[in-house]
Amino acid sequence: MITFEAPTMHGAERVTDAWTMLPSWLPVPDMGVLPVNSFLLKGREPVLVDTGLGLIGDDFLTALASEIDPGDLRWIWISHMDADHAGNLARVLAAAPNARVVTNFLNTGRLNMAGFDIGRVQMLEPGTAFEAGGRRLIPVRPPYYDSPGTLGFYDVHDRALFAVDSFGALLPAPVREIDELPDGALRDGLIGWSSVDAPWLADIDNSVLARTLKSLEAIDPAVILSGHLPPVRGGIRRLTSHLAAAYDAPGNLPADPEAIEHLAATLNAELVPCS
Ligand SMILES: [Fe+2]
Ligand SMILES: [Fe+2]
Repeated sequence: MITFEAPTMHGAERVTDAWTMLPSWLPVPDMGVLPVNSFLLKGREPVLVDTGLGLIGDDFLTALASEIDPGDLRWIWISHMDADHAGNLARVLAAAPNARVVTNFLNTGRLNMAGFDIGRVQMLEPGTAFEAGGRRLIPVRPPYYDSPGTLGFYDVHDRALFAVDSFGALLPAPVREIDELPDGALRDGLIGWSSVDAPWLADIDNSVLARTLKSLEAIDPAVILSGHLPPVRGGIRRLTSHLAAAYDAPGNLPADPEAIEHLAATLNAELVPCS
């Protein structure tokens, strides 16, 4: 029987002068642990980016309140409506009466269907940057994702890329820095998570992913903020190189028993007459 251990909230961590991470860790049976991060941009118009796991709502609200009076929050950026990203949205909205949700068209529709007051939503028009207290966040769709509504951003000032589910990794144990990981553990964690969270990646022409990863390398973010990995400094190639290599040689990917190719091969094998 699969048993689920409890997720845990860890202490807030400073990422840059402006950005703070609110980290938690979610045990995944037989696969390790998954970081689940929200981020807080302090300043004239504070922005909370995603609202954590609903399973540990009390701890999330406590961690948030240790960094800011929720009444001072002006914006809540919702990347998509998954339970690990919008888990405590209702509670945060109740605690932050001066905050408005900022997100895109599809997520606004999903907020509406989930019963949220979309009168508190600022919907970003495609192609427009978001400004908060003089800070410019350029919306970006990360290279892979599990929801078509996924909304990341690039903070021009800090050269920080919020990659949402991209560059997440299932890890053997919680770490504060990826430098604490053997390179093989980072690679396996990245590939394992991408295979679970975005299985469609294995089905697309690998030149599409390669081109997107190259574009990110050209942008050269100073820090990568993933919802599912500690912050990464020292160049995005630390991440993109593993993904490009794995998806360039699909034999390196974990077998997907639900893939149509797998089914076809199985049926073909069954249809071959025995001699
Ligand atoms: Fe997701
Ligand atoms: Fe996620």
